Amino acid sequence: MLDQLTTLEHAALEEMTCVTTSEALTAWQGRYFGTKRSKGKLDEAMSALGKMTAEERPAFGKRANEVKQALLAAAQSTETAVKTAELNASLQAGKLDVTLPGTPIKRGRLHPSTVTLRRMYAIFAKMGFEVYRSPDVETDELNFELLNMPPDHPARDMWDTFHTSQPGVVLRTHTSPGQIRSMRELGTGGTKPIRVILPGMVYRYEQVTARSEMQFNQLEGIVIGKNITMADLKGVFTEFSRHFFGKEGRIRFRGSYFPFTEPSVEIDVYYGLESERDRMLTKGTGWLEISGAGMVHPTVLRNGGYDPDEWSGFAFGMGVERPAMRLYGINDIRYFWQNDLRFLEQF
Ligand code: DAH
Repeated sequence: MLDQLTTLEHAALEEMTCVTTSEALTAWQGRYFGTKRSKGKLDEAMSALGKMTAEERPAFGKRANEVKQALLAAAQSTETAVKTAELNASLQAGKLDVTLPGTPIKRGRLHPSTVTLRRMYAIFAKMGFEVYRSPDVETDELNFELLNMPPDHPARDMWDTFHTSQPGVVLRTHTSPGQIRSMRELGTGGTKPIRVILPGMVYRYEQVTARSEMQFNQLEGIVIGKNITMADLKGVFTEFSRHFFGKEGRIRFRGSYFPFTEPSVEIDVYYGLESERDRMLTKGTGWLEISGAGMVHPTVLRNGGYDPDEWSGFAFGMGVERPAMRLYGINDIRYFWQNDLRFLEQF
């Protein structure tokens, strides 16, 4: 009888040497200590107790208890070993190297036109100009009539206009209608001087080439006060140019015609005449036209609420992309709206 217990003990400890997982341990425990549904081998051996004589029982009971303690101890130490091994394995599997470099996220950046506009704002801000915004969709009246171009005025041909389905409503062909809006609002009935810049997109139904786009930005400027002269226009624009283009930037003023200014000029920046592309961009002159300007026409002053006998002013309407082309050495205006990241990422 006692031999049976010893055989059981040896078998159990022998099997235990092969137990390396939690599942195997649970199965081993079930085999020897029983499960909810079945009796274990140890209990089965104990049932022999019932058929024993009173003399045999104490020795068998003592030995059975020793075997039970031995098996429990074996289970306990295997459990510790298995748990440790399993934890290590799971840590190994889920290993994370926090020092590995991450996947870089592409940074967005400002559009070159926005970068250029902001440079321009900063320069004009130093000269006391404020930004005034006016709408992209304008009335024919503001875009043309109040700027001294009645309906059949031939000068309207200077701008190929996008009309909307609403009669008398156009996409602004220039930022100049903002002159009327700002004079009326800020001049408060022609009683106060103004000094503003008006940025924004303008639209023209034009042939797209390396030097002309059908939409582009302009920065309009207008100064109204007493005794404002052409010298102020030249001074402000020359100062702007020095800051914007730096020492090498050369500009020139050239007599021109606009219905809303008298006298009128156009302002060019020297672009260069080294390559065929330079020749094409500058129409063979080396100079790139960047702005129209002049002394605000008396009719326009009146339309803005000012008495031209008392007040005078100058205005300019400068492109944004062309000065940017000169500054950054861009040789085709079409890059600005093609949204090619290879271009945009350079700013
Ligand atoms: N609006 C004109 C254009 O887009 C440019 C211009 C010329 C603006 C003379 C002015 C100006 O303010 O005084 O062609």
